[in-house]
Amino acid sequence: MRVLRHIKPADVATGMFIHGFVGSWFDHPFWRKKFLLEDDDDVLKIRQSRVDAVIVDDERGSVPAPRAAERPFAMPSLPSAPRLATQPNPLAKRYTAPTAATKSTSFRQESKRAAKIVEKSKKQVGAMFEAARMGQAIKVADVAPLIDEIRDSVERNNKALTNLVRLKSKDEYTYMHSVAVCALMINFARKLDLDENTIRSMGMAGLLHDLGKMAVPQMILDKNGRLTDEEFSAIRTHPERGHALIGDNPEIPDVARDVCLHHHEKMDGTGYPFGLQGNEISLAARMGAICDVYDAVTSNRPYKDPWTPCTALGRMAQWEGHFDERLMQVFINSMGLYPAGGLVRLNDHRLALVVDNCEDDPSAIRVRPFYCTSRLQLTKPVEIIIAPDRGPQILGTERPEFWHFDDWAALRQSILAKGADLSAAA
Ligand SMILES: [Fe+2]
Repeated sequence: MRVLRHIKPADVATGMFIHGFVGSWFDHPFWRKKFLLEDDDDVLKIRQSRVDAVIVDDERGSVPAPRAAERPFAMPSLPSAPRLATQPNPLAKRYTAPTAATKSTSFRQESKRAAKIVEKSKKQVGAMFEAARMGQAIKVADVAPLIDEIRDSVERNNKALTNLVRLKSKDEYTYMHSVAVCALMINFARKLDLDENTIRSMGMAGLLHDLGKMAVPQMILDKNGRLTDEEFSAIRTHPERGHALIGDNPEIPDVARDVCLHHHEKMDGTGYPFGLQGNEISLAARMGAICDVYDAVTSNRPYKDPWTPCTALGRMAQWEGHFDERLMQVFINSMGLYPAGGLVRLNDHRLALVVDNCEDDPSAIRVRPFYCTSRLQLTKPVEIIIAPDRGPQILGTERPEFWHFDDWAALRQSILAKGADLSAAA
């Protein structure tokens, strides 16, 4: 029988199958969460990491010694979403299971397929939102297959579709933003190991989260200049208006109502419409808040320059009180990206500073290696590109204090300044 055990990092050994880590993603040194532990170096990395616990799968690897497995352990946990596990999923019959068509593909390959899905989405989501504007019920049957297609695309490559929908024209912004949040929620839910039905419900929640914008006058939504207090108040009604538009439609899962109503709440209680805080906000709504803001700040819009994905992740992770910090780390992990300004370890014995995404290829990242981990020496920083299929690769994030970079902010500035002498800042 399959048993998932939580053990201390010090008790891991080769032959165990790692199912996951408990603690911040930044505290463990691996790109992947699930793998067979075969390498002594990896064992050492886990033992030296700051994760709270390691989850091992007895069925897929060796069994921990009883002494280690039976030791009582304090388990921090992610916020729960009580309704997710118990509510029968009204969408289940509408969907198809993932098939062989979900074999992973490259960013460039998937971008071609994703472009067709995006074109289809514009029509279908546009029609659904317009029907809602006219007061008609949402026909789930019309969009359920689309959610399946988005899920399959995300499974084949999780950056292609989300990158394409960053480009939005003014008149299609709300529809495309909804498609983007749908894809981000699915990707996020997969990273949290939620079950298939819940993943679909999360996709539906992403698709419908801004439905209430259909009840806000278009001239307010389209306004480029500063909003008046009245206009701002009108926009802030959209969560409740969206919730009312969904109504008691039995085909729509409760999680979609929840995300629609609460995706503008903030962890510190300064959000709207109810000023909920902390545990009062469900897991799904916290996820929705992150996906919503991430797509908004990375979207290419006529009146503002978008942030790159790496910059957005770096900045959002610094916003105190807005998002659930642990979920934010999972989200960063789910994107397979690294926040700009972060410290990472490469697989060629170097530490590097993350600079930004590559403009022409969002799956590649610009970094500046500046430290040799085998000689424990600073080196002259030279910018290189980390591409998914060639050259050095990023193993994971590192903590500056572990490497005694006591004034990390100053060192980071020096790395970014061309030709600087790093010895003064280290
Ligand atoms: Fe919203």
